[in-house]
Amino acid sequence: MKNFKNKYGPWALITGASSGIGEAFAIQLAAEGLNLVLAARRKDRLEALAQKLENQFHIETKTIGVDLLHQDFLEPIKQVTDDLQIGLLVNNAGLWKMNSYMETSLEDEFNMIDLNIKAPSILTHHFAKKMMRKGKGGIINVASLLAYMGVPYSAVYAATKAYELVKSESLWYELKQHGVDVLSLNPGLTESEMTNGFDFSHMPMSLLKPEKVVRTALKALGKKSQVIPGGMNRLLGFLSKRVMSREMNTRMFGMLMGKTYDKLQQAH
Ligand SMILES: NC(=O)c1ccc[n+]([C@@H]2O[C@H](COP(=O)([O-])OP(=O)(O)OC[C@H]3O[C@@H](n4cnc5c(N)ncnc54)[C@H](OP(=O)(O)O)[C@@H]3O)[C@@H](O)[C@H]2O)c1
Repeated sequence: MKNFKNKYGPWALITGASSGIGEAFAIQLAAEGLNLVLAARRKDRLEALAQKLENQFHIETKTIGVDLLHQDFLEPIKQVTDDLQIGLLVNNAGLWKMNSYMETSLEDEFNMIDLNIKAPSILTHHFAKKMMRKGKGGIINVASLLAYMGVPYSAVYAATKAYELVKSESLWYELKQHGVDVLSLNPGLTESEMTNGFDFSHMPMSLLKPEKVVRTALKALGKKSQVIPGGMNRLLGFLSKRVMSREMNTRMFGMLMGKTYDKLQQAH
């Protein structure tokens, strides 16, 4: 992509880069010539990916084995990034626990809030300030199609993603004036470790490939405040925003998620 490296380089920080959508971000940003800081808990996987990308794309990489649920997670990230110019922050690491709300433990609820909301907030505060001083940069927050509605059996997850979506839209406006682009990436079901082991065969859409999700995001960055990858998911997003009432949406997702939830219960 023309000028991508100038606008969002020289370094990108990707959280949750050890698998799924985060790994796909790493590969496509390396192909754009960005140097990468890869963060997640499984450092061995990050190191293997970093080595592969260094060899293939002749970029520089750094890896950080870090648990973003740890209270002081910013410290190890600062140690590695303080001397680097991070032009792109990808807040991708996330946690989804499917359960009925009353069966969701408070520990699971607060972990989803901490990983899906608190960690991106801490990272955005830290890195957006630096980007604003440079007058350029980008932040991609990986939210979800589920951000647009109440979602039974994923109530907390959907609420955390709604927070990310709405915050991203506001920041898109506020930070644009400082040269920083913000995007909420709102994928529907995507093939990854997160969706492994669930039965979604009754869903009206097939699972997306992480590569497609990331391609859509990189095309939309700087142009839109939010994007939904995939035609069927975009249609669902359109229906939920423009056509159906909030109750209709929640009923529809209650039925769809309810089936997956029932199958999960039967399997255990
Ligand atoms: N898959 C979908 O259908 C879908 C749909 C919409 C949105 N999303 C969102 O997409 C993002 C990426 O998910 P994915 O589908 O690619 O799932 P994934 O393959 O499970 O990836 C999740 C990533 O987050 C990292 N992570 C999890 N807990 C962490 C922690 N405590 N500290 C640091 N890193 C942690 C994991 O690495 P480690 O285990 O090595 O720490 C992993 O790299 C998430 O925000 C998810 O909510 C996914």
